[in-house]
Amino acid sequence: MAETKKLLRALAGETQDVPPIWMMRQAGRYLPEYRATRAQAGDFLSLCYNPELAAEVTLQPIRRYGFDAAILFADILLIPQALGADLWFVTGEGPRLSTITSQADFDVLKPATDIHETLSPIYETVKILSRELPSDTALIGFAGAPWTVATYMIAGRGTPDQGPAHALREGNVALFEALLDRITVATIDYLSMQIEAGAEVVKIFDSWAGSLKGDAFEKYALEPCRVITKALKERHPTVPVIGFPREAGEKYVGFGKATGVDCVALDNSVDPLWAAQNVQVDGCVQGNLASRHMVTGGQALVDETNAIVDAFSKGPHIFNLGHGITPDADPENVQLMIDTVRSR
Ligand code: CP3
Repeated sequence: MAETKKLLRALAGETQDVPPIWMMRQAGRYLPEYRATRAQAGDFLSLCYNPELAAEVTLQPIRRYGFDAAILFADILLIPQALGADLWFVTGEGPRLSTITSQADFDVLKPATDIHETLSPIYETVKILSRELPSDTALIGFAGAPWTVATYMIAGRGTPDQGPAHALREGNVALFEALLDRITVATIDYLSMQIEAGAEVVKIFDSWAGSLKGDAFEKYALEPCRVITKALKERHPTVPVIGFPREAGEKYVGFGKATGVDCVALDNSVDPLWAAQNVQVDGCVQGNLASRHMVTGGQALVDETNAIVDAFSKGPHIFNLGHGITPDADPENVQLMIDTVRSR
């Protein structure tokens, strides 16, 4: 059957006059209705594990803006928690986890096959969403890439330069690789379960891929993405995969072909004209408006949005930001971005 959803058409390689549009972190703190539902849930993690309320916040930006895709509301750090790490969020600061720096820390982690005990509410959220979403809205599931998830598991928090993870990679490569393998296997299973529950697309977020240089990028960003994509394609051949090796720079070139992903998501450090020639030649791309325009708005937002749509107009493109929308964004600027894309 020919695809009718705009997002799935782009992922199948179709060039469209008006590209499909959605936004990273579209369910988030810039929306008053999100803040109200999070308060009702108690805190962020309780919201992630409450299927009715997680589905509600996923639907909020769809109701308000009519995006072409909804992304499951959850977090990439639920996998570490499902593997047995402690996880909590410090208000105003971000995530905290128990750290993994020794073999003994690693040995207490659960096997990948045990994750579903913790993650079953997430599959329930996906089921609710696949019933409740409008018929033209695609549902995206997601997980963090092994490297990015490992950076948080090793350091126990977000780090500006991923220093602790690089130190383990250089100091105890066997332990580092064992951790990456555990996350890889868990991620394949987690994404498969999301697909079986109704996710129509999955996205792999490698937010810290850009800090892997040279061969390390191939080994720890590209290769895990290839392994996960291959395993998913064996189980679910028709489900498209979006890869997001954020800040990969020149390593974006060839990433789609080498990993088998159907779409490469671009951050906003990449020039769209360069990316059209060097990345989009191989297939669908997603991106890449700077999130700050959602704070600042105005003519600069309109001009930059048009420049991105123009640059990618000769091939398959999904319009998005280059990273998540921030809490200080103005919801009206989101509407301006959407109107600019759709009035073309
Ligand atoms: O995009 C969406 O709307 C779907 C839900 C989603 C969240 N996190 C919800 C969230 C997705 C896809 C993520 C991915 C995620 N989580 C990434 C990869 C993408 C990226 O941003 O680079 C990473 C690195 C995380 C880990 C994480 N979660 C951090 C570092 C933080 C704290 C920083 C922050 O923005 O507050 C979170 C919290 C988080 N995840 C929030 C949301 C809506 C804010 C929590 C709140 O409501 O207080």
